[in-house]
Amino acid sequence: MTKVFETENARLELADAFLGMQTIPDNGIDLAIIDPPYGASTKANWSLPANHSLNGFGGQWKLADHDWDNITGYEAWKFTVALLEEMKRIIKPTGSFWVHATYHNAGFVNVACQMLGLEIINEVVWFKRNAFPNLSGRRLTASHETIYWVHTGQGRREYRFNYEETKQARFPEDLLKQPGKQLRTVWDIPNNKRREEARYGSHPTQKPLRLSERLLLISGLKQGQLLVPFLGSGTEAVAGIKYGMNVIGFENDSVFFDIACQRVREVEDSLTAQITLL
Ligand SMILES: C[S@@+](CC[C@H](N)C(=O)[O-])C[C@H]1O[C@@H](n2cnc3c(N)ncnc32)[C@H](O)[C@@H]1O
Repeated sequence: MTKVFETENARLELADAFLGMQTIPDNGIDLAIIDPPYGASTKANWSLPANHSLNGFGGQWKLADHDWDNITGYEAWKFTVALLEEMKRIIKPTGSFWVHATYHNAGFVNVACQMLGLEIINEVVWFKRNAFPNLSGRRLTASHETIYWVHTGQGRREYRFNYEETKQARFPEDLLKQPGKQLRTVWDIPNNKRREEARYGSHPTQKPLRLSERLLLISGLKQGQLLVPFLGSGTEAVAGIKYGMNVIGFENDSVFFDIACQRVREVEDSLTAQITLL
């Protein structure tokens, strides 16, 4: 059964994203931020006990194993193609979309974009300086993710790029961005979440809010329509509302959906309180 949560600036549905997106008209979306299942889950059994001595990593840790993320091989390829076909249909030529990835799905996203005639604007490397150590000792420590920025307008390149705002932006935590200089494609953004980002419960692959806020700064449109197909705990939806966009989002897990709804309610309430104070 579909559950709908509606506020002034958001409509979130407890629903399968592919079914939900069918209701969106052609060229109905200005921007999408897609944080899909990467297919990175593993059944391997490495773990760190609660009494480990690594600074800054809390208590017990084990490798990620989530049912929603168990998508690999040809199934993952078909998933990616279906997702990007939907983006091609619903994103305006003046808009764009972002796709988060690791090596598990990045190749699929890149090839599928090229096959579908979707131009990759940039491939961003998100450097995670506080990446968790590799537990097996059999690989390098994975300390980055890939983010694709893509548009649907083919050779006309009408997509929105908030160039000056991006160039002038100051990110004190990012040691690679110099004030007044063009933003480059390697971003130094710590992965840790502020306490308030997990106030209503956390998500195992929750993105830090400051990362989503950067995507909005670069490509957002005030009063425009933002799509978040895989809400998780709602990080991208919260960033979109704070920026001034209207959000439509989907999540098929009721626990994560409830966290997203509470976070959206909180940010809406804080905006209303600010307007009342003015
Ligand atoms: C990578 S997580 C998103 C995390 C989010 N960026 C955050 O900061 O919390 C992907 C989410 O997509 C959800 N999901 C997976 N397949 C889905 C589908 N077909 N329709 C809707 N949601 C789906 C999972 O339950 C998971 O919460």
